[in-house]
Amino acid sequence: VSVLEEAQIKARTLVEALPYIRSYRGEVAVVKIGGAALSEPRLAQILAEDLVLLSYVGVRVIVVHGGGAQISKAMSSSGAEARFVGGMRVTDDAAMEQVQRVLMGSVNTELVGRLNSAGATAVGLSGVDGAVMTAQRMTADDGSDLGRVGRVTDVNGPFLESLLDLGYLPVLASIATSSEHTTLNVNADVVAAAVAAATKARKLIYVTDVAGIYRDFHVKDSLVSEIKADELEALVSSLDGGMRPKALSAIEAVRAGVSKVHMIDGRVEHALLLEIFTDAGVGTEVLS
Ligand SMILES: Nc1ncnc2c1ncn2[C@@H]1O[C@H](COP(=O)(O)OP(=O)(O)OP(=O)(O)O)[C@@H](O)[C@H]1O
Ligand SMILES: [Mg+2]
Repeated sequence: VSVLEEAQIKARTLVEALPYIRSYRGEVAVVKIGGAALSEPRLAQILAEDLVLLSYVGVRVIVVHGGGAQISKAMSSSGAEARFVGGMRVTDDAAMEQVQRVLMGSVNTELVGRLNSAGATAVGLSGVDGAVMTAQRMTADDGSDLGRVGRVTDVNGPFLESLLDLGYLPVLASIATSSEHTTLNVNADVVAAAVAAATKARKLIYVTDVAGIYRDFHVKDSLVSEIKADELEALVSSLDGGMRPKALSAIEAVRAGVSKVHMIDGRVEHALLLEIFTDAGVGTEVLS
């Protein structure tokens, strides 16, 4: 293959993305990045570049991030043990301080820096900034106390959209403000769904550390490629760990009018571009 032919293959690839670019430009896409997808610097860099490319072709990208792995690591190195009920982190005051320190002081700033060096003008914020996200204390599914964990009650969509209008790429950490003048830890998946609903997003994409939803996590060929919200609801009780809140929030988002919700594998290079600009159909797609 000559140099020219090689360059033409690249040109063709760009043109093949044209119908997708046309259909998504001007639309809001909320991308939730899990802690696992951020812990490997090389993959985090590729993901940042994908996000910047998306915004350059006119997609109104809003990033929401978690940091479960990083918070658990910080807690264990300070001698505290992470505890979860129904996929939600039990958060006492000391843990909340760690959550804030890790999410805003480390994960958010690092991600914003990566996006900026890849060419974006990203703005990092938590739900506390501008009171963009409010929450109310909640208990676990089984009624047990979760401490400073909240249920999202409101997201200021117009504020996020005004950042987009000004050309900024918002990067939101999963901390909310509450009416009791405290901050609350909220599950980042739930945040992403609430942000998608508040901004009438066309797409909500969860970048995680598995290939998608497995009907049975121990059976490798049970990966679901497409599922309706009602069917997923019947499956939720069999999902463990972080996949449960993710599935529940995907259902909520679809019911709130987000046309498509995807769960994709952050360990796969360019999974985000593959999902948006090709028919490759990576991961799991949740439909209404
Ligand atoms: N049936 C299932 N299919 C897929 N994943 C499952 C299933 N049951 C449990 N899981 C677990 O859910 C995990 C994904 O959720 P997790 O909360 O750990 O990641 P995340 O949401 O991407 O990151 P973060 O919580 O930091 O934002 C998988 O790594 C897997 O261990
Ligand atoms: Mg999670």
